Amino acid sequence: MSIIEVNDLTRKFNNLVAVDNISFRVKKGEIFGLLGPNGAGKTTTIKMLCTLLRPTWGQAKVAGFEVVRGAAKVREHIGLVAEKIILYDRLTARENLKFFGRLNHIPKKIILERTKKLLKLVKMEKWANNLAGTFSTGMKQRINLARALLNMPEILFLDEPTLGLDPQTTRAIRDFIKEINREGITIILTTHIMQEADLLCDRIGIIDEGKIVALDIPQNLKNIISEQGKTILELNIPGLSPKIVSEIEELEAVASVNQRNEYNLKIYIENENAIYQIMNIIQKNGGKIKSIATLTPNLEDVFLHFTGHEIRDKAEKKMPLEHPRHRRFGAKPRIR
Ligand SMILES: Nc1ncnc2c1ncn2[C@@H]1O[C@H](COP(=O)(O)OP(=O)(O)O)[C@@H](O)[C@H]1O
Ligand SMILES: [Mg+2]
Repeated sequence: MSIIEVNDLTRKFNNLVAVDNISFRVKKGEIFGLLGPNGAGKTTTIKMLCTLLRPTWGQAKVAGFEVVRGAAKVREHIGLVAEKIILYDRLTARENLKFFGRLNHIPKKIILERTKKLLKLVKMEKWANNLAGTFSTGMKQRINLARALLNMPEILFLDEPTLGLDPQTTRAIRDFIKEINREGITIILTTHIMQEADLLCDRIGIIDEGKIVALDIPQNLKNIISEQGKTILELNIPGLSPKIVSEIEELEAVASVNQRNEYNLKIYIENENAIYQIMNIIQKNGGKIKSIATLTPNLEDVFLHFTGHEIRDKAEKKMPLEHPRHRRFGAKPRIR
């Protein structure tokens, strides 16, 4: 059964199409992930589903209610951990929860019960009476999670739940997510971290430039690469030069080339013959091959396959190789 149904959902900001005609379903009880780089449209999508932003067109139903006409009803069934942490520094952890509970019109007695239980769940009972202003980002995020669960939502939205957290808190937050999902809460989360999506999600929608380019269970997404007969090679080449890279790119059996640093290349090949041709090019141009390995496809490769660029490119750096070939190999969307 679908607990969320999204049809042709679109949001424009002036001329910018932030979310571009996306459609998908989320099944009751699953952890569904939207994976994509900065600016892909993840937060905009979450905001529309949480009734915080009106769609420009298209529809979405959450827990059986339409997000525009049934906004108040939708809100009764959802919790949101937003990208930005909203807590009052001058209130304690417990007071923050009580305050937000009252905002949600939850009866006092129930707030007290749930606050106690939730502070325990997020392992913050020791700091219940400390001011939120004294908390680390990780502690604040735990309280934020507790806050989102105060109304005992059927569906919990988490927008980049581990962004900026230390590894230990990241692990704890991921464990909470799994734990509350086991208790029956449907989870929608966004992330730009492919391992996070892979680790947590039952199904993943890969989103880029406002469009969902692929949607499936993680294993099926990864299988797409090998189904296409593609192999991924990773080579470490001291003495790698732009000439070597461009000659490799010109090979017929090479689908795409990604230079990760001054000596490391990740090459997508379409048949094994390419290996010998690549080795020839490197030797001919005075490069050495320090190592060569075939890689098992991960979600990063799936993303590259469908979009022609890497997830990290937009977030952290410019693409090392500006080459039209990167774009040309963006594959057709594949949605299940
Ligand atoms: N309120 C806004 N006004 C104008 N542009 C916006 C607004 N919110 C988001 N955008 C733009 O929409 C695009 C998608 O943003 P967003 O949904 O925040 O992406 P993500 O969460 O995947 O990083 C970006 O190009 C962003 O700059
Ligand atoms: Mg965002």
